[in-house]
Amino acid sequence: MAFEASNSIPSMATTTGFLFFSFTFIFSLFSLLIFISRMKPWCNCHTCRTFLTMSWTQRFTNLCDWYTHLLRNSPSGTIHLHVLQNTITSNPDNVEHIVKTRFDNYPKGKPFSTLLGDLLGQGIFNVDGDSWKFQRKMASLELGSVAIRSYALETVMDEIQTRLIPLMSLKARDQNETDKNTVLDLQDILRRFSFDIICKFSFGLDPGCLLPSLPVSNLADAFDLTSKLSAERAMNASPMIWKIKRFLNIGSEKKLREAISVVSDSANEIIKQRREMGFATRKDLLSRFMGSVNNDDIYLRDIVVSFLLAGRDTIASGLTGFFSLLSKNPRVEEIIREELNRVLGPVQESPTFEQIRQMHYLNAAIHESLRLFPPVQFDSKHAEEDDVLPDGTIVKKGNRVTYHPYAMGRMEKIWGPDCLEFKPERWLKDGLFVQEDPFKYPVFQAGPRICLGKDLALMNMKSVVAALVPRFDIRVVGPNHEPRFAPGLTATFRGGLPVKVIEKRC
Ligand code: HEM
Repeated sequence: MAFEASNSIPSMATTTGFLFFSFTFIFSLFSLLIFISRMKPWCNCHTCRTFLTMSWTQRFTNLCDWYTHLLRNSPSGTIHLHVLQNTITSNPDNVEHIVKTRFDNYPKGKPFSTLLGDLLGQGIFNVDGDSWKFQRKMASLELGSVAIRSYALETVMDEIQTRLIPLMSLKARDQNETDKNTVLDLQDILRRFSFDIICKFSFGLDPGCLLPSLPVSNLADAFDLTSKLSAERAMNASPMIWKIKRFLNIGSEKKLREAISVVSDSANEIIKQRREMGFATRKDLLSRFMGSVNNDDIYLRDIVVSFLLAGRDTIASGLTGFFSLLSKNPRVEEIIREELNRVLGPVQESPTFEQIRQMHYLNAAIHESLRLFPPVQFDSKHAEEDDVLPDGTIVKKGNRVTYHPYAMGRMEKIWGPDCLEFKPERWLKDGLFVQEDPFKYPVFQAGPRICLGKDLALMNMKSVVAALVPRFDIRVVGPNHEPRFAPGLTATFRGGLPVKVIEKRC
């Protein structure tokens, strides 16, 4: 009996294995055929060949730098990656056309929502049409209110005074007294800071990532992983590749599923806690949304995740770019210090909204750093119908159209021959900050879908700079080369931003 049993189990396993293998093989073959037919591998143009063979890596560190090079050399400021059916543009007229004039023809589209659907669900970032309109209206009402803006400033100032400044002082002392060889990863500190802020502001809960022990947060780590792996999905030559892996639950897709489940469990726990604590009198964003969305927990989960994505990495990324540029430009740093001294006086208490508004040079410096290091380096839409862009480019129904703020910030045609220099003065007229055309500078996008957190983000960034620059000299250490970016939905410096911190004696 024992022999029979042991004999029949392998044969069943063999049959099941064979069926599974056959199914996988046929499915993969079928997907490969679709992939080949959609990829147009017969396109032998120089750009497609360079992309497919990855030979751009011989000359460029980052894919975005190669695109910038191609866009700079294109007379219309537009290029095509035929194998990906992607039209990439740095032409401000095209940008205006896509994000404003023909907004209805350029939704995010199904390919995008499928790519990020597992993470973002039906959250504002991932939907078009009525669902987007509803969330946009609700979110802009909340984010525009005076109460929520004051709550945001209060939250930012509290995190700066009680955690960021003491931590930087501690690290400066460690570096200068105990271990002169240690460096601090400023990017890590800024990401922890942003995570605490966005959680407090959005959900009224404090993850404490910036406590002196710099604790590990499962939610923050899982969130990083979901952002990285979701972005890597888009780097596959065909969506069929990640879809097959997801179907089989293997490799990066298995890891993504596990990380998303950590994020979802945490989001559900946050919603549950909020409900138990009562939300009617609370000031955080989630409590305010709960008043309108009632018991739809899946919808609330998607809103929670979208706001985590919106507010966390973008602000940290913007600040990392800013401090990396400031470290190489002591002249700009000195002018910022003079302005802070003038507006805040020698005591340098936390600035008010009005004082922040008076800091024209600081505002210019932050806009200038976001020009060179935009946290969202590119953004894609998908054409609903055939169209022609203002520069004459033909777009076919279903094609992807990408505008590229990173490349646009580095175009001589847009910013002049000194476009690669960090020059806040280009934003000032008679000492006052002047806003640029948003289609020339779509760092926060533009048109009906412009970033809803723009003012909050700028206020947050200015508050951090106003707190750190007068108190510390922050100098980037290591070789002086251009940053390498890590894959992710927002730009992150690979290897962080290693700095030395010296506390100034006031
Ligand atoms: C420097 C910081 C930031 C930058 C550069 C930035 C940039 C952007 C960009 C480019 C988009 C369009 C993305 C797309 O369509 O896929 C966007 C959308 C959005 N942002 Fe921001 N963002 C920043 C900070 C924030 C913050 C702090 C919040 C919230 C507290 C926020 C909330 C949103 C929301 C809700 C949307 C979706 C708008 C819509 O689809 O209608 N952002 N942001």
